[in-house]
Amino acid sequence: MVILGANSEISQAFIERVLSRGERFPVVYLFSSNEENAKRIARHFTVKYQQQFEIIPFDLSLENDFEPIKQLDTELVFCASGFLGKDAATGLYDDANTQRIIAVNYSRIIVLLNHFAQHFEAKGKGTLIALTSVAGERGRQSNFIYGSAKAGFTAYLQGLRNYLFHKGVHVLTVIPGFMDTPMTANLSTPKMLTASPQKAASIIYKAWKSKKNVVYVTPIWRYIMLIIRNIPEFIFKKMKM
Ligand SMILES: NC(=O)c1ccc[n+]([C@@H]2O[C@H](COP(=O)([O-])OP(=O)(O)OC[C@H]3O[C@@H](n4cnc5c(N)ncnc54)[C@H](OP(=O)(O)O)[C@@H]3O)[C@@H](O)[C@H]2O)c1
Repeated sequence: MVILGANSEISQAFIERVLSRGERFPVVYLFSSNEENAKRIARHFTVKYQQQFEIIPFDLSLENDFEPIKQLDTELVFCASGFLGKDAATGLYDDANTQRIIAVNYSRIIVLLNHFAQHFEAKGKGTLIALTSVAGERGRQSNFIYGSAKAGFTAYLQGLRNYLFHKGVHVLTVIPGFMDTPMTANLSTPKMLTASPQKAASIIYKAWKSKKNVVYVTPIWRYIMLIIRNIPEFIFKKMKM
């Protein structure tokens, strides 16, 4: 198993879910831009579940060497990599912020995922589980750089699923609404619309086992976004969203 964005609490809850169900892997590869923290996570799960881990330092905001990745053997890739960055009010004209958002949420992550797609295609099996966002379903004035990167990522996952289906490979798109994680620690989100990492892990695990194509972590978000997508543009542009 490969985990991209190992320090995400959703990744950790997913690892917990999988290992606590008795599943074991020759190695779990933790890709992380924060090696020290990833080592701590690996130690915790090694002690608790006697599962072997390997840390792969990987920062999506930098140029990457993909050669070592070509040697990895895996049947499951779980991708929780993401970067919210600054909102439009504070970050729109900050080039470094814009580039980082696009790199982590879209341009560099898809290059990395393509390597795993190629690996799965050669094996004729495998599963990719990737987290995108409701933010990708309509461009909003508050965070449309992040939203547009997630929109691109969602479309990438749709196309990849379609392409890999014919090769025996499954792609599961996970769409979180608000999540109770450090990413949104500075935002006050309505409790009813906010899910815990543990709830996300449980929903994702079930969706993986039942081979779903797309899953909303909190189902009501499917309907909220249906409404938001259908607000006419001449009204939407006047709204403060
Ligand atoms: N929180 C929300 O409300 C929410 C809502 C909708 C969608 N999502 C999406 O859900 C996923 C998980 O989010 P989360 O809430 O768990 O956020 P998070 O705590 O910020 O986790 C995202 C992970 O992405 C990895 N990452 C960030 N910058 C990176 C970089 N430069 N290079 C490589 N990896 C990098 C980090 O893992 P490492 O430190 O291990 O590298 C980080 O832990 C993301 O894709 C996010 O966009 C979150």
